[in-house]
Amino acid sequence: MCYVSLWRGPWPPILGLASHGRSGCLGHGHGGGIFPACDANFLLETDEAAKHRPREKAQHIAHSASKVRRGDDGQVEDQHMPYCYFLAARDTITATLTWVFYNLSQKPNVVSTIRNELSPIASSKAASSASAMVIFEPEETKSLVYLRAVLYETLRLYPPGPIECKTVATDDIMPSGHKVRSGDTIFISVHSMGRMEDLWGNDCLNYNPERWLSDNGNLRYVPSHKFLVFNSGPKICPGKEIAVMQMKTVIASTMWNFDVELMKGQSIQPKPSCILKIKNGLILKLKKRQM
Ligand code: HEM
Repeated sequence: MCYVSLWRGPWPPILGLASHGRSGCLGHGHGGGIFPACDANFLLETDEAAKHRPREKAQHIAHSASKVRRGDDGQVEDQHMPYCYFLAARDTITATLTWVFYNLSQKPNVVSTIRNELSPIASSKAASSASAMVIFEPEETKSLVYLRAVLYETLRLYPPGPIECKTVATDDIMPSGHKVRSGDTIFISVHSMGRMEDLWGNDCLNYNPERWLSDNGNLRYVPSHKFLVFNSGPKICPGKEIAVMQMKTVIASTMWNFDVELMKGQSIQPKPSCILKIKNGLILKLKKRQM
């Protein structure tokens, strides 16, 4: 279990991105970013907003989140709950979307397959609307399997939460044989897990959405303890389907209406952080597609 590390005592001062063996190599990571002026202003806005958010407000949010109280039933009970949703939802989605667009700028064949999948919906929408843009609604993208595969493949290689952390409740022995003691902290490198040959095969470092599809074109079943990006078990992310729905509509509308091109001369490197973003931002050029 090379992707798991045990920590006894207080938390390490810096929660860096651990690199565990070959599969944990962060040298392969790229992503995050800023979109320059284009019609996809929601992306520009989200990252820009983060950059310009006043320090006091950020501190207030962090302070509020740390004061979350739980009731007898373990449920978060006070007025700070909205902040939890804000923190859990915004950064994860914006980080993922920028990785998605970075990957798509490198993979024209993946873009073509996305457009083929969108084409029947886009044709019927274009016929009933005079607008030059086609904007996809959540219901319309729900059944799009390839689009979901693109999203999962991005999340596999670039999980927004690269490290998952657990505290041991009682002394136990893990399936691997490791003994754990009550109070121990266990770090699981979700980033490394997404790049392990044992889990994903010898093309584990390649960006290949097809790996998520079965022979009949349906989505392949992958257990959540293998694809740990949204966590697993009772504490699995409750916002998973909302996140997938939002991201699918953004990707569909952007990729249908625009050609996405990576601006030359950028050094694409991950930023060691609890959210896997790009170190220096990502600059893409969006050109309106000629159809
Ligand atoms: C790409 C998008 C997202 C990813 C990868 C993600 C991932 C995760 C993970 C790994 C956890 C478990 C954290 C832990 O217990 O250690 C979590 C928890 C949570 N997520 Fe998400 N999340 C995403 C989007 C969202 C969205 C959009 C929402 C809200 C609409 C949301 C709401 C929450 C909440 C409230 C929790 C805490 C649940 C609890 O404590 O039981 N997440 N998420």
